Amino acid sequence: MHPLLEKDHQKLITLIETLDKCVMDGHSVSQVNQHLDAFVSLAKDEFKNEEDLMKEYHYPDFNEHKKEHERLLEQLLSVHEQLKKGHTPFGEEYMHWLRNWLETHLLDADSLLDEFLYKANSAAHRT
Ligand SMILES: [Fe+2]
Ligand SMILES: [Fe+2]
Repeated sequence: MHPLLEKDHQKLITLIETLDKCVMDGHSVSQVNQHLDAFVSLAKDEFKNEEDLMKEYHYPDFNEHKKEHERLLEQLLSVHEQLKKGHTPFGEEYMHWLRNWLETHLLDADSLLDEFLYKANSAAHRT
């Protein structure tokens, strides 16, 4: 995997683990929200880094991938907003949603991007 993708994705996964532990251990809502805030800002950074990388490599599916990021961020922000207002109880169900939110994108759009970057880099090394 491309080192930048790997590093950013690992950070997101680690934060999900932290959040999960925090929920399991029954920490306060404000602590959970703190981790969630961190997750949202990390996700924004990660999307931005990835988009910069796609531009640098003239990734042909840039627009679709960027749109997908926007859609994901919208979903994440709206769920986070509901949680902050106390409309949704934070628990396993939400953790499940969050894992799914991340994994689906990693396995789908991000792995296509990774494949493209890998090919682009090996082509560059051949010349
Ligand atoms: Fe990503
Ligand atoms: Fe992505």
